[in-house]
Amino acid sequence: MKILLTGGAGYIGSHTAVELAEAGYDVIIADNFCNSSPVVPERLEKITGKSFPFYEIDVADKNALRRVFDENEIDAAIHFAGYKAVGESVKVPLSYYRNNIDTTLSLLEVMAEYGCKNLVFSSSATVYGERAKLPYREDMETGPCASPYGWTKLFIEQIITDHTKADLDFSAVILRYFNPVGAYESGLIGEDPKDIPNNLMPYISRVAVGNLPCLNVFGNDYPTPDGTGVRDYIHVCDLAKGHVAALEFAAKNSGTEIFNLGAGKGISVLEMISAYEKACGHEIPYKIAPRREGDIAEFYADAKKAFEILGWKTERDVSEMCRDSWNWQSKNPNGYEE
Ligand code: NAD
Ligand code: UFG
Repeated sequence: MKILLTGGAGYIGSHTAVELAEAGYDVIIADNFCNSSPVVPERLEKITGKSFPFYEIDVADKNALRRVFDENEIDAAIHFAGYKAVGESVKVPLSYYRNNIDTTLSLLEVMAEYGCKNLVFSSSATVYGERAKLPYREDMETGPCASPYGWTKLFIEQIITDHTKADLDFSAVILRYFNPVGAYESGLIGEDPKDIPNNLMPYISRVAVGNLPCLNVFGNDYPTPDGTGVRDYIHVCDLAKGHVAALEFAAKNSGTEIFNLGAGKGISVLEMISAYEKACGHEIPYKIAPRREGDIAEFYADAKKAFEILGWKTERDVSEMCRDSWNWQSKNPNGYEE
């Protein structure tokens, strides 16, 4: 089976490419490198020993996408391409709506033209509304979202749901990721934010490797056991495996199905720092800073549905997440930049 990965050079897409190749799928990648490195395709070939047809295109460009479908008989698509920085989306919302929604519409329209009926979409736990109770379950209320980024995910979920209602042969799996961290164990691919990282794990990694002086812990007065924010961190290789299970499900069903991909367990910022210190063998300098605007105290998944229906669950714990993040960061102190 041939699978198109839009945004397949990015952090989650590249790890999914490896899992799919190892599961015997042929993977085709379309990416414009707006948030990834041109080095990724060769690293993927090095890991898997397989070649990955690569198209450097804007996924919103329908003619460019048609070329990909003309040249390959694509059975399914996994749609990772999009902008993902929550804070940036507040500053430039139109650019987020334009890129995230345009890429989705173009992909769905071109898939329809070519009779390609299976889609997996990267959504986010950020779609759960303020009123949703912990742990987040797929049938809970969504919205209002805390950022334009979150709204793009919720709108796209709606677009996909409407499309599957209109085309009864179409099958879509929406995956709501919790907090992906870690890296492939070889240290050849990993998370490489272009600027100063917004997210906890890449920030800790850069402090650990000496590229940044000190981690700011955003608040220690939350109503959580140690006062710091609690999230459901998931190893990116476990997450990648979830896509293989989702594809298998999509191929056998029709309609839209939504799954949380999370561990179902919360970890605090201080617990993560302590686990990372064990992994890298030295202290991580940190200081308590004010709360970050828009953050909530705690969230984690109810991960039962993915286990019951897809047979998928996380396998790697926090020490493996930190070990693999550190392995990637220490082998690539400047990310993909040589
Ligand atoms: P990423 O930025 O590393 O990967 C996204 C890829 O899409 C990049 O390689 C980028 O160059 C590409 N891209 C963006 N716009 C494009 C366009 N118009 N045409 C072609 N390529 C384009 O992000 P990621 O962490 O791998 O996330 C993948 C998906 O998962 C995104 O949709 C993101 O919103 C979603 N997600 C990520 C997280 C997370 O914490 N990483 C959490 C929840 C959901
Ligand atoms: N944190 C710090 N210091 C930092 C960065 C983060 O203390 O430098 C704390 C945050 O306050 C929070 C926790 O670490 O308590 C996790 O923060 P992240 O920024 O790593 O992750 P978020 O949960 O805020 O958001 C992430 C993605 C979103 C996605 C959401 C749910 O960035 O895109 O998970 O999937 F929507």
